[in-house]
Amino acid sequence: MTSQYSPKLPRSCDILVFGGTGDLALHKLLPALYHLHREERLPADTRIFALARRDLENGAFLALAERHCRAQVARSDFSTESWRSFAARLTYFAMDASQSADFGRLRRALKSSEGRVLVHYLATAPALFAPIAQNLSIAGLAGPETRIVLEKPLGHSLDSARAINQAIGQVFDESRVFRIDHYLGKETVQNLMALRFANALFEPLWRAGHIEHVQISVNETLGVENRGAYYDQAGAMRDMVQNHLLQLLCLVAMEPPVHYDAEAVRNEKLKVLQALRPIAGQDVQDKTVRGQYAAGRIGGQEVPAYWFEKHVDNDSDTETFVAVQVHIDNWRWAGVPFYLRTGKRMAKKCSEIVIQFKPVPHPLIDGSGGPANRLWIRLQPEEGISLQLMAKTPGKGMLLEPVELDLNLAQAFSGHKRRWDAYERLLLDVIEGDSTLFMRRDEVEAAWRWVDPILAGWREHYQSPRPYAAGSNGPEQAQMLLERQGRKWME
Ligand code: BG6
Repeated sequence: MTSQYSPKLPRSCDILVFGGTGDLALHKLLPALYHLHREERLPADTRIFALARRDLENGAFLALAERHCRAQVARSDFSTESWRSFAARLTYFAMDASQSADFGRLRRALKSSEGRVLVHYLATAPALFAPIAQNLSIAGLAGPETRIVLEKPLGHSLDSARAINQAIGQVFDESRVFRIDHYLGKETVQNLMALRFANALFEPLWRAGHIEHVQISVNETLGVENRGAYYDQAGAMRDMVQNHLLQLLCLVAMEPPVHYDAEAVRNEKLKVLQALRPIAGQDVQDKTVRGQYAAGRIGGQEVPAYWFEKHVDNDSDTETFVAVQVHIDNWRWAGVPFYLRTGKRMAKKCSEIVIQFKPVPHPLIDGSGGPANRLWIRLQPEEGISLQLMAKTPGKGMLLEPVELDLNLAQAFSGHKRRWDAYERLLLDVIEGDSTLFMRRDEVEAAWRWVDPILAGWREHYQSPRPYAAGSNGPEQAQMLLERQGRKWME
């Protein structure tokens, strides 16, 4: 195995995962670190500490971690030898993150961390972010070589996000704060930037003069799984729209940045968020749809309604689906609606962006007057780009039909090794100190500023979620949102 060390990597590093026995740590972070270890991408001298309240022996924790890694990692990538060497880097440390005395113990357990990059990964509830930052500071674990990673959602409103940012900012300067949105770590999402900014072809058309509307859908077949307690407080607007969908919208709508670096990219994304037309008052009812899944069938299996899920209130009115019509009030996008949609327990898992171009200005041929050209960017499960064009059908007469130019990115890069998980890429970026793919404080706050009035409108109008059958395409009101404007969701 040849070494893959990047020149930007520090020589030694300690990664502290707060919430070390939680879902995120076991399902995503540890498997990602295992992969990075196996492919020799971590600094040679890396130690990983999983921190949580549970009173566990180190051996018991390693067994738990191994079980999860085995389940998450492809068989061909898991070997006992790699696991053993990975486990040698991994230590469990039982502590209560709200108790400052425990941070003194932690500091002693780390022994000397001088000269080492120290990454604090807060995979905990946001309520713990501020106390952890303060305790780290008191314990002397927040020096210039330390970085803090905050998992979304950052707060549950603009005020709470500001309070968190304020408290974190008192300990860590902005360049050391990494607010994660794992969608930005997905290869496919980064490919969006490649498509737009490494090809001259689309740019002249990428504006109101040529684009009729845009759809961004992130649909899942999964329900809330074991996360009912968190999800029931959050709902789809806070869990998905405030972050992932708005980030995708930014990447589609932003101006080309001057450089590909953290400040330039994030400046342009921020401008999109600042240009979002506010949705408040009557518009909340006209431009948004919230839904909640009822019982139904997914993949031939009966699945229960949302309010039968574990840890969910049985009269919960939390939304598991959101559709919203968005306008970006700037020169490039004036008059172009962007339709965002996300839901759990939908008919199929797919994240995609559809750019619908305007019809030809003067239809010469019968049938060419409709909105013919459509760019379809598929983010998952398959990654691909297809462009719908009109073509003449074979035979006599000028009969037209839409056909697709289809690019499957997995096939195009089939010579490449395993696809990286978003967390692998993002963890390495944190270690290297590159925040291009992380959300800056002002971005997060601008997103909340737009989301808050919608949440308030739902509360004020007692807008309960519309039921939809699990395994369907969401509530019929979401279809009507587009039908009223002579459009439909592209399924
Ligand atoms: C997370 C949300 O951020 O993203 C989950 O909290 C959601 O509710 C998940 O299921 C979707 O991510 P992915 O990578 O599976 O599309």
